Amino acid sequence: MAHLLMGCAFTKAVLHEVLARVGALCCLPRPYEDLVAWLSAGARRLQGKVKATRSLLNLTLWRIWKLRNACIFEGATPVVARLVEDIFVEADLWRAAGARALDRLPLHARPPDSSPFTTLV
Ligand SMILES: *[C@@H]1O[C@H](CO)[C@@H](O)[C@H](O)[C@H]1NC(C)=O
Repeated sequence: MAHLLMGCAFTKAVLHEVLARVGALCCLPRPYEDLVAWLSAGARRLQGKVKATRSLLNLTLWRIWKLRNACIFEGATPVVARLVEDIFVEADLWRAAGARALDRLPLHARPPDSSPFTTLV
């Protein structure tokens, strides 16, 4: 679980892209944090947006979990840029369904231009 949701290179790239886009890189896992410590402390580093960040982290980890299952059981291919786009599309659905805390994050900010994944979309 810790490897899938924190340690693996794909997860690190997705978390970095998602959190960079909303200006929340301070919430990335730190080297000394295990999964439980990070889930408890990570979102708290973005004061005033803790609930929003928790929702986005939950959504991101949920989608990584689902994609991992699709790769194993359905032969899906993991592509960072595609998953990141899917996460922001689903974040809009969560907002429409009542997750108003997400309004506190700039979900529609342009992705950083330096992204090496942009051309893969
Ligand atoms: C995120 O998930 C955790 C673990 O299930 C839960 O306790 C928490 O309430 C969730 N936070 C939000 C804001 O959805």
